[in-house]
Amino acid sequence: MSYSDLKEKWLEHYKTAPAQLDKMGEVNGLISAFNANVDAVIKVSGKSIEKIISENKLNLSEILKDGENSILSNEDAIRGFLQCFQEGKAEEWLIEDKTVFNWLNETVGYDKLQMGGQGGIVANVMAICGVNSVYVHCASSPKEQSQLFLDLENLLTVDEKGQIAQASKVDRKNDLPLIHWIIEFDKGDTINLGGKTYMCPKANRFIATYDPLNFKLHIDEQFSKCMVQDSVQPEYIILSGYQMLHETLKDGTKGADKIDDSKAMIKSWRKSCPDNLLHLEVASTQDKAVRRHLIDSLVDSVDSLGFNERELIDILEVIGEERLAVKCEANINAQTMFEGMLKIYEYTGCARMQLHMFGLYLTLQKKGFKVTPMQNRDGMQLAATVAAAKAGTGAINSKDVLLWAQGHKVSDVGLNELTKLQNLVGEKYGQSQLLETGIFENDSIEIIAVPTILIEKPVTLVGMGDTISSVSLVGAR
Ligand code: GLC
Repeated sequence: MSYSDLKEKWLEHYKTAPAQLDKMGEVNGLISAFNANVDAVIKVSGKSIEKIISENKLNLSEILKDGENSILSNEDAIRGFLQCFQEGKAEEWLIEDKTVFNWLNETVGYDKLQMGGQGGIVANVMAICGVNSVYVHCASSPKEQSQLFLDLENLLTVDEKGQIAQASKVDRKNDLPLIHWIIEFDKGDTINLGGKTYMCPKANRFIATYDPLNFKLHIDEQFSKCMVQDSVQPEYIILSGYQMLHETLKDGTKGADKIDDSKAMIKSWRKSCPDNLLHLEVASTQDKAVRRHLIDSLVDSVDSLGFNERELIDILEVIGEERLAVKCEANINAQTMFEGMLKIYEYTGCARMQLHMFGLYLTLQKKGFKVTPMQNRDGMQLAATVAAAKAGTGAINSKDVLLWAQGHKVSDVGLNELTKLQNLVGEKYGQSQLLETGIFENDSIEIIAVPTILIEKPVTLVGMGDTISSVSLVGAR
């Protein structure tokens, strides 16, 4: 079938998006935990970075060196940025020193403030998509952050008295604003440094984070107390925020203990709705010990995992698949990614996992998982539609913008990737109709793959993965 015929076919499949969106209104309760923060977003140009380097007399060799993915000096912040810029990749590094945070504030500044953190972003998306009660955990909830939650009655957190209240109206006056720098860059932009020109192959972002509370997975006890109440009934619990932990925290506690404590707590939240779905958004977890513990310990209690290409490779590195990780890294495409997913699937035994990569979403699940392949496909198409609205308009703050991209055709990139996947699936399991239907199943697994709508010049990319994972899951009904 030609690409133009395939595009017509997928346009037809995507027509279920409005109905799926309506179905999200059937969900009663959803918990989004743990990390919400303020994102200070700025789009920079290569030129402006060159200027910062020269005006601040930064040490070039410190910027160009290889080193740890963490920020102890001003140079480290630019080093992380440059690595992302030149490879067109997304990473998040933690700022270990407050003076660097102050320096960024003064020299880089920001264009706008918006709700950040997987937990905060997912909560906003779920609430605007119509989930009846969305409970969002906030390590901190000062007014500066609360007002970035959408002004919706179905979006809830706890106030200073420990009572459930509309999240956007909460003002926990003594709480600290937690700010993350989202430094976005454009495809095709260049930076000249030390006589060399670095060209950016893909629009993306670098995140520099200073966040003493979410760093230690600080948990608001009042929130947790409320979540065990019978009335909450969380049909879905979406987890994230572990990625900022370290093997050993500043106060000597172990990251692994924090993970284990949260595991016990979540178990208690699940009691009022035993049939719920627990999803973990893996996120960019730099500390390998933490990453390993997440995969080895937390994942056995979760039903669903979400990750992007980078995060998938990171997982391979800690499950004894270093060689495959290197192979994936050298050539990121649907084939290598699928091979990686299979290994993660075998290793963790997690029943459902979803990769969101450039142009394609790919779900691998156990045969007979309670969300059917068709429901998954419908959810993923809704997710691609909503993500395109976010990329194209910059914000999905009102219901009428959610389906903005309806009628857009799927991308060539997506169809190319899906073709590759179909070939691999053909070699491994025999003939399939993946390219046309997006679904393959045999006696043990189900594969669902959806080519996505790509927006040529995205207004924003931050929070895209969180939006995709949560809408794919909750919109799959
Ligand atoms: C990370 C960042 C946060 C951002 C989010 C988007 O959690 O720390 O600032 O909003 O990723 O996915």
